[in-house]
Amino acid sequence: MRGLRPRCGPPVSFSSLGSNIPVGLDTFPPDFAAHIRGLEAAYLRETDPIRQSGFSGGSDRWRNEREPILSAVKRDGDFLDLGCANGFLLECLVAWAAAREIALIPHGVDIGPSLIALAKIRLLRFAQNFHIANAFAWNPPQRYRYVYTLVDCVPSDQFQAYVHGVLARCVAPGGRLIVGAYGSRSRNSPPVEVRGLLEGSGLTVAGEASGGSPVLAKFAWVAA
Ligand SMILES: C[S@@+](CC[C@H](N)C(=O)[O-])C[C@H]1O[C@@H](n2cnc3c(N)ncnc32)[C@H](O)[C@@H]1O
Repeated sequence: MRGLRPRCGPPVSFSSLGSNIPVGLDTFPPDFAAHIRGLEAAYLRETDPIRQSGFSGGSDRWRNEREPILSAVKRDGDFLDLGCANGFLLECLVAWAAAREIALIPHGVDIGPSLIALAKIRLLRFAQNFHIANAFAWNPPQRYRYVYTLVDCVPSDQFQAYVHGVLARCVAPGGRLIVGAYGSRSRNSPPVEVRGLLEGSGLTVAGEASGGSPVLAKFAWVAA
């Protein structure tokens, strides 16, 4: 299976699927908020689902650099991606987990209304599980066994407050917060050390994984 293009859904095109409803990024400095808002427009210029997720390395690298997230996933459960873009990562994780006989129910949050519209189309059966919000301040309707997010969803000086808030509000008792960081091959920049960021935030790391050769994705997780 490794190295094959994931058997996930076809490309979904953007065509007036949502409007640019302002969603609170006012806890962030203006430059950071502008950067986050700009991601949606950049992703929507693409039709390939991987590129629409902000990844330009192709399907083999996509799988090599994203499937290690499942090292943290040992049982069935609800899986929330905070910063889910078009939902393609969730769709792939559900498929890759199913191959390991683990059943995941996808849930997603993104600041981009049009990205959430695409995610709802991609994962139509689970459309009610997708929400437009700033992950930093989002109050979930339920708790999730697995919550995944990226270090760069918030400014670095708000990371500690972010991960503690997500653990308190979103992760079910006995569940896991999985934090990821991506480097860039084209910029020759490695991913940041997620373990160190979590430990520096006063959390105990329960496990870690990495993906890519050279390593371009790092993941670490903590228990709720
Ligand atoms: C690189 S994509 C990640 C897609 C997928 N989760 C993955 O890891 O491949 C980052 C996504 O996170 C969203 N995002 C970044 N910061 C966010 C925040 N504070 N709240 C909600 N969404 C955010 C962006 O809009 C973008 O769609």
